[in-house]
Order: sequence, then C-alpha cells, then structure tokens
Amino acid sequence: MKKILKGGRFTPENYSAEIEEKIQKYRKLGYKLPPRRVVRTPEQIEGIRESAKINTGVLDCVAANIREGMSTAEIDKLVYDFTLAHGAIPAPLNYEGFPKSVCTSINEVVCHGIPSEKEILRSGDIVNVDVSTILNGYFSDASRMFMIGDVKPDNKKLVEITKECLEIGIAAAQPWARLGDVGAAIQEHAEKNGFSVVRDLCGHGVGIEFHEPPNVEHFGRKGTGSMILPGMTFTIEPMINMGAYDVYIDQSDGWTVLTDDGLPSAQWEKMLLITETGNEILTY
Ligand code: MF3
Ligand code: CO
Repeated sequence: MKKILKGGRFTPENYSAEIEEKIQKYRKLGYKLPPRRVVRTPEQIEGIRESAKINTGVLDCVAANIREGMSTAEIDKLVYDFTLAHGAIPAPLNYEGFPKSVCTSINEVVCHGIPSEKEILRSGDIVNVDVSTILNGYFSDASRMFMIGDVKPDNKKLVEITKECLEIGIAAAQPWARLGDVGAAIQEHAEKNGFSVVRDLCGHGVGIEFHEPPNVEHFGRKGTGSMILPGMTFTIEPMINMGAYDVYIDQSDGWTVLTDDGLPSAQWEKMLLITETGNEILTY
C-alpha cells in the first residue's frame, strides 16, 4: 500500500467542490500554493478560536494593569497567572528555551525581549507586549503596543503608523490574493511615512503549532508569493523601525532583538482566519 503523505496534497475534505476546483485550476496554472496542512478543518478552527479568546483576555488584563514604575517581570506574572486561571498555557514558556511567559520589548528592542525584575517601565517608553496561548493544544498569538506616560510625538507616530501598517496588511489578506500583496501594502505605508520594515522576522501560520508555514513577510511585491486560501490561520505582525531596518540579537541572552542604530521600533500583531469571502480577526 502506498503511504499517503500528510500535508502532501490538496484533497476535498475541507472544501466545497467549487473551491477545490479553483485550487486545482490555480495549481495547473503554476501558482505557488501553501502546504495542505495549513488549511484548517472546521473542528480545528473552533479550537483555535477558543484559544484566541483567552489570548485576547490576557492582553486585556495587561492593558488594564500596565503602568509606569512596574517591572516587566510583573507583566510576566500577570500573563502567567491569568493564562493558567483560564485553563491554558503561555506558549512562550520554555519554547526553544525561552525562560518567561511573554515577550516584553521596550523602545529599541524590536521583539523577543525577556521580562525582568530589573527592567522598570518609565514615562516615555513604548513597549510591545507579545502574548501567545495554548488551549487544548491549539495556539494563538497577538501583540499590542503600550505608551507609558509622556511619549515623544515622533515615537507616538511610530506606534500609530505601525498599527495602520497592520490594518492595511489585514485588508490585503484576502482569499485568492498573494502573500506578497500583504507585504507590499505594509511596506508602502511604512516607507511613505519615513520608517523601515524589519526584514529578518516575519508573521507565520499559527494554530496547530506555534510557528507553521507560511512565512508572512511584511515587505515584498504585489502579485508574488504563496496564494492565500480560505481556511488558513496566520499572523500579521509588522515590526517597523524609526531608522534603518537592520537588527541584531543580543548574544548575552540569545533572544532579545534590537535595532542596529539604537532607534525605536514598534510592532502590532493579530491573527487571522481567511474565509471564503474575506478574513476574520481572531486575536485582538
Ligand atoms: N510571540 C512571538 C511571535 O509573534 C514568538 C515569540 S517566541 C518566544 O511569533 F519564545 F520568544 F516567545
Ligand atoms: Co507571532
């Protein structure tokens, strides 16, 4: 008997004959299609949706409690406690050795900042809190920016334009569009405002695992890249820099990503479900 490779090809199990036909048509025309496993079953979508609800609750809890003078370790404790109280697990904890339950990234830290008792939120800081949750084996992921006290107008603008970049990217994430359409839309808006798009980190499929195909780049060209199909769940999470897009990883902890030029960076992240007619935002 031949082994049927999981994820190897498209089968009609999740799709109406109409959609399946469309997929086969594009496949014959040579379009790049994502692997089969990134298309979710209705049962998986339900599980992912429930996980996403807890994830939004965690971020709402952070939003209600974050304040000047607080340490990022206190944010970590809020996330850990809230998540466990809702029967879920913080996905970052022990993920590839990550030591905490959440990423907290202040000012020139682009992402993957590790919460610490020694790190105190000060007036003027812009901070990204990136929350990811596992509920009944299903993964969700989102991040928001918080502005502490009096933030300089330039930094405020960076935070606001980055949020717009995410919204513009979401609008471009339509069924039968291309991932390059998403990246191009985000890049155009960031650069039009004098900012740059981080190249070395991207959005990703999420749901059955923390990080799955496809890679969702936040720069690129319209009409290129993998086709976006109904049933996919992935994040869009642009990291936008005030200065140059170059970043490096702090070798002392192996995680913290910083801007090369020391200028600030902002990020907003949401998770989408692609539907037959558009998309549904799963995490806020
Ligand atoms: N939450 C991040 C993302 O948006 C991933 C963090 S990995 C961690 O993809 F280990 F640093 F938590
Ligand atoms: Co993510």
